[in-house]
Amino acid sequence: MTPTTPTAPATADASLTAARARSDLLAATIDDPGAPGRAGLRVLTGDRPTGDLHIGHYLASLRSRVTLQDKGIETYVIVADYQVITDRDAIDSVRRDVLSVVTDYLAAGIDPRRSTVFAHSALPELNQLMLPFLSLVTDAELRRNPTVKDELLASDRPLSGLLLTYPVHQAADILGVHGTVVPIGADNLPHVEQARVVARRFNRRYAAGQEVFTEPTALLTDVPLLAGLDGRKMSKSRGNTIPLRASADETAALVRGARTDSERLITFEPERRPEVANLLRIAAGFLDRPAESLAEEIGDGGAAALKRVVTDAINDGLRDHRRRRAELVADPAYVLGVLREGNARARSVATSTLATVRAAMGMAY
Ligand code: TRP
Repeated sequence: MTPTTPTAPATADASLTAARARSDLLAATIDDPGAPGRAGLRVLTGDRPTGDLHIGHYLASLRSRVTLQDKGIETYVIVADYQVITDRDAIDSVRRDVLSVVTDYLAAGIDPRRSTVFAHSALPELNQLMLPFLSLVTDAELRRNPTVKDELLASDRPLSGLLLTYPVHQAADILGVHGTVVPIGADNLPHVEQARVVARRFNRRYAAGQEVFTEPTALLTDVPLLAGLDGRKMSKSRGNTIPLRASADETAALVRGARTDSERLITFEPERRPEVANLLRIAAGFLDRPAESLAEEIGDGGAAALKRVVTDAINDGLRDHRRRRAELVADPAYVLGVLREGNARARSVATSTLATVRAAMGMAY
C-alpha cells in the first residue's frame, strides 16, 4: 500500500456520499412523472422473516414501499426466508413468521394486484445464480463487508458460509428479478454496493459487455434509525419493540415499560437523552411532525406525559393497519394465496433471468 492510498474510513465516506447522491437523483426521477427511464424502474426490497414486523419496520420501510407502489413504480418484495439461517439455528417458526410478514405487508397497503410478494425459497433460480455470482467476488471483499462483520459479532456463532456470502445471495435476490431500485436503510448499503459490483463484473466477464444486468441503485431512507424501548438496537429477537400485531393495551404496557430518565422537562436531545429522544422520534414518526415541537408541547409533563403521547401516537397511527390485519388473520387462505401467486410471478421473471445468464455463458443446451 502506498502512503497516498485513502484510509478505509475515508473510502467508506466517499462511497456513502456517492450512494447518497445516486439515491437523491433516483428519488427525483421517481417524483417526476415525465422523467426518462422512470417507467422501466423496478423496486426490489424485502425482509428477513425472523419474527413479527414492528413499528420500526412500519416507520422506516413499510410506509415508503406503499408510497412507491402508489406512485406507480413496479414493486417486488422478497420475504428472504433462507436469510433467517444466516445467524441462527432455529428455523421452527419460519412458516408462521413468513405468513405474519406477508400479513403486515397487505395490512400496510401493499396491493397484490400491483405488487409481487414472494419467498426466496420459492425461487430455486436465485440459488442457481449464486454460483456464477460467487465467482465474481473475492474472499477479501466478503470479509470486509461491515454489515456481515456486525451480524457475525451479534450472532455469537462461528462465521457460516451462508453469512459470509450474505451480500452475494442478496445480489441474486435483486438481480434475479432485475430490481433496479432498492429501498434500504444504510445498514444494507454494503450489500447493494456489492450487487452493483456483481452486475458490472458479470456483464464484463461473462456477457462481453452486453448489459445482462443493470446496476441496482439503493434508495436510502431518511428516517433516523430507531432504538428499541430499552435503548439497545431495535430488534424482533430482542423483544424490545412493539410488534404491529400488538393490541392497543399491549402497546400501552410496552411503552410504559420503556426506559426514560428522571428529568421532568421533556427535551429533544439525542446525544444527552437518547431514550427520551427515541420515544419522541417514534411519536413524531407516527404524527408526522418534528420531534422538537412535540417535546416543547409535552414540556414539564415528565415521562408519564411523554409515554401517553407516544402510546396515543402509535395506537392512532396503527388503527387502520390493525383493523385490516385482524381481517387478514381471519382469512389465512387468502394470505397464502397472495404469496403463492407472487411466488409464481417472481419465479417466471427469475426463470427468464437464469435463461439469459446461461445463454450468455454458453450453458444453454
Ligand atoms: N437483508 C434484508 C434485511 O435484513 C432483507 C433483504 C433480503 C433485502 N433480500 C433483499 C433487502 C434484497 C433489499 C433487497 O432487512
